[in-house]
Amino acid sequence: MSAGPPRHVVVLTGAGVSAESGLGTFRDKDGLWTRYDLEEVATPEGFRRNPALVCEFYNARRENLRKARPNEAHRALAAFERRFQGRFTLITQNVDDLHEKGGSPDPVHMHGRLDELRCQHCAAVYAYDAPIAPDSVCPVCGREGGQRPNVVWFGEMPLHMDAIDAALADCDLFVAIGTSATVYPAAGFVGRVRAMGRARCAELNLEPTAASSLFDETRYGPASEVVPAFFAALS
Ligand code: OAD
Repeated sequence: MSAGPPRHVVVLTGAGVSAESGLGTFRDKDGLWTRYDLEEVATPEGFRRNPALVCEFYNARRENLRKARPNEAHRALAAFERRFQGRFTLITQNVDDLHEKGGSPDPVHMHGRLDELRCQHCAAVYAYDAPIAPDSVCPVCGREGGQRPNVVWFGEMPLHMDAIDAALADCDLFVAIGTSATVYPAAGFVGRVRAMGRARCAELNLEPTAASSLFDETRYGPASEVVPAFFAALS
């Protein structure tokens, strides 16, 4: 394990970092997956069965996101990245754009982005502002239908895994923020980093998770408080 200031900090965020911005989490009381059947709205099969229902679900989430603003946790991560002299990699499971709005230049969206669509005919990915409809037309290939949210659904491979694997192998500080550590592969990142034996691992979350015992250090409380405090102490 390294001593002194870290050389490469990798941060993994989950829904908890955006909770205080008014975006619901997935598995807490009243979480999204307690109110919706994820098989229907977050799987390729669900989209094939009922594209209108899936479009409606994502349009509601896009509308919530339009009203949401970044909170102190998003801003503290961006401020740390600006002043940190070493390497910094921000990986998020979130499909919202609150890290960008908080000032982070290039978070790695391993579960995709709510503000983009992907054409299933030509694979083009494009920013899309209007409500999604099952018969919308691809601006690149011009074909109608088959335009899906550019989000990773259950049973699909997360995005950017090569870059993520390289960052995990190189880091000497790994920080997980606001994630319940239940969805793989992200839930396994701490185990992989630990197995390599080079990095200190810290968990910042509202409450302990199933993975807490794997971390060297844990801080519990709202992200808007524990994240600024943790990163202020680091630099
Ligand atoms: P979860 O809803 O599973 O977990 C959110 C975590 O954030 C929990 O551990 C909460 O205790 C914590 N939390 C809640 N409010 C918080 C706050 N104010 N400050 C700090 N922590 C807080 O969300 P994720 O772990 O992000 O994937 O879920 C992972 C993936 O499961 C999501 O990306 C999504 C979902 O299904 C896909 O849709 C592919």
